[in-house]
Amino acid sequence: MPASHSHSGILLAAMVRVTMVIAMVMMVMVMVSGEKKHDYGDALRKSILFFQGQRSGKLPANQRMKWRGDSGMRDGARHGVDLTGGYYDAGDNVKFGFPMAFTTTLLSWGVIDFGRGMGDQLNEAVQAVKWSTDYLLKTTSVPDVVYVQVGDAFKDHGCWERPEDMDTDRTVYKVDKDHPGSDVAGESAAALAAASIVFRYRNPKYSRLLLRRAVEVFRFADRYRGAYSNSLRAAVCPFYCDFDGYQDELLWGAAWLHKATRRRVYREYLLRNQKVFGADDSINEFGWDNKHAGINVLLSKEVLMGKIDVLQSFRRNADDFICSLIPGASRNQLENVQYSPGGLLYKTGGSNMQHVTSLSFLVLAYSNYLSHARKTVSCDGFSNSAASPSLLRRLAKRQVDYILGDNPMRMSYMVGYGSKYPKRIHHRGSSLPSIGTHPRHIGCKGGSVYYLSSNPNPNLLVGAVVGGPNRTDAFPDSRSYFQESEPTTYINAPLVGLLAYFKSHPVV
Ligand SMILES: *[C@@H]1O[C@H](CO)[C@@H](O)[C@H](O)[C@H]1NC(C)=O
Repeated sequence: MPASHSHSGILLAAMVRVTMVIAMVMMVMVMVSGEKKHDYGDALRKSILFFQGQRSGKLPANQRMKWRGDSGMRDGARHGVDLTGGYYDAGDNVKFGFPMAFTTTLLSWGVIDFGRGMGDQLNEAVQAVKWSTDYLLKTTSVPDVVYVQVGDAFKDHGCWERPEDMDTDRTVYKVDKDHPGSDVAGESAAALAAASIVFRYRNPKYSRLLLRRAVEVFRFADRYRGAYSNSLRAAVCPFYCDFDGYQDELLWGAAWLHKATRRRVYREYLLRNQKVFGADDSINEFGWDNKHAGINVLLSKEVLMGKIDVLQSFRRNADDFICSLIPGASRNQLENVQYSPGGLLYKTGGSNMQHVTSLSFLVLAYSNYLSHARKTVSCDGFSNSAASPSLLRRLAKRQVDYILGDNPMRMSYMVGYGSKYPKRIHHRGSSLPSIGTHPRHIGCKGGSVYYLSSNPNPNLLVGAVVGGPNRTDAFPDSRSYFQESEPTTYINAPLVGLLAYFKSHPVV
C-alpha cells in the first residue's frame, strides 16, 4: 500500500491502527475466555515422530513409524562414499542437503532454547537431531568437499514411488574448491555447530566431533566462495535453488560457531562482514534460503544478555523484524507482514506454513531473550506502549493454535492431531500402500493410481504439518495441490520448539 502523506491519510491510518489494536485485544480476550485448550504435549510428541517417517537408510529396531522400511541403502556406493541415512525433505525421495542442514539447525535451536519444556520428549528430539548429524558427518567427511544431494530430482519427481521401492538414479552431487557452495556449506557448518551445543553434555565426544567438523566446513565455505546454484544449477534448481545468495549462510554459520565456541574470530568476522554481506537486507525473512532474521535474533541474545555490546546493530535489525510482524506496528518503514482473514501469517511463494513456524519460532525465542533482559521492543504506531515479551508470546501462540485447529476450517493442519486433519497429503510413502501390506514392488508410474485416487492416504504420517491453507484460509485437502498439502521437515523443525514451550506454558 502506498504511504499517504495527507493529513486525513495520517488520521485514517491512526484510526486503523487503533482499530487493529482493539481487534487484537479482543482476540486475546476470546482466547482467555475459554476456547478449547490444545494438547500441546500430544502435538509435541507427534511433531517429533514425523521425522521418523522421513528417515532414509537403515531403520533401527526402535523405529516407531512402523509402515516405513529401509531405503536408499546404496546411496553413495557408486561414488565410493557411504551416504546412507538422513531425511527426505518432503513428499519425495530426494535427499536435499541444503534444507536438511537448515532443518537440523532449527531442530537444534529448539532443543537449546526449549528443551527444558520437552519432558519425556527431549530424548526423542535429540535423536531426531542425531539422525541428521550422523548423515551430515558423512556428507562432510572429505576435506573441502560437501556432498549436497543424493537423487536426481527431475527423475524422482517424475515418479510416484515409495522410498523403499525407489529405482530412479541416485546421483550424488557435491561442491568442492572448483565448484563452490558457500550457502549449503555455510548452512552445514551452522547445523553442525548448533548440534554440538545440543550434545555438549549428553555426548561430549560426539559434540567435539561435530564442532571440529563445523569449523572445517565453515573454513571451506568462506575460502571458496560461491552459490551452489551456480555450481550445480541443473541439479538443484528450481528445487532448492539459492535465490538469496550465499552471504547470509556465511554470517549464519559464523553466528552459530560464535555461539558454540565463544571465539573472538567469529565475532570479528560477523562485524567485518555484516555490511559487506548486506545483512541489513530482507531482515524480515527466515527460511531454508534466507537466514537474515535468524542471524539477527540469534545474535541479539548476546546483546540483550549484556555480554557483547558491539553486536547492537543486529539487535536493531531484530527489533525492526519483530515490529514488522505485529499487526498495526512497524519500524523504519519496514513493510508489515500480512495475515489471512482467519489470522494466519501469510507470505507469498507457496508452502506458507514454513513461514508461519519459522517466524513464530523467532518471535518466541526473542520474547524469552527480552524477558530475561527485562526489555521490550518499541515499534512505531503501536498505541503508546512497547511490544512486551508477553505480547510476542501471544502472537506466536496464536499461530500455533491456528495450526492445531483454531481456524476457519476448524481443522488441524497436523496429521493425526485432533479430530479433523489433512487426509490426502502430497507424500509418496504416506499415499501408497505400505511395504508391509503390499510387499510387491510398485514401479515409477505404478503409483499414479494412488496419487490420483480421492481416497484418504493409507499410512498416517503422524505429526506432519502441511503447507497449509491459501490466503483466504481455504484448504482443498488434495494431493495435487502440493503447495497446500505437502509436509516438509523445515515446517516441523521450528514447531518442535514452539510446542515444547506451550506445553510447559499453556497460558501466556
Ligand atoms: C482459496 O481456495 C478457495 C477454495 O479452493 C478458492 O475458492 C479461493 O479462490 C482461493 N483463494 C485464493 C486467494 O487463492
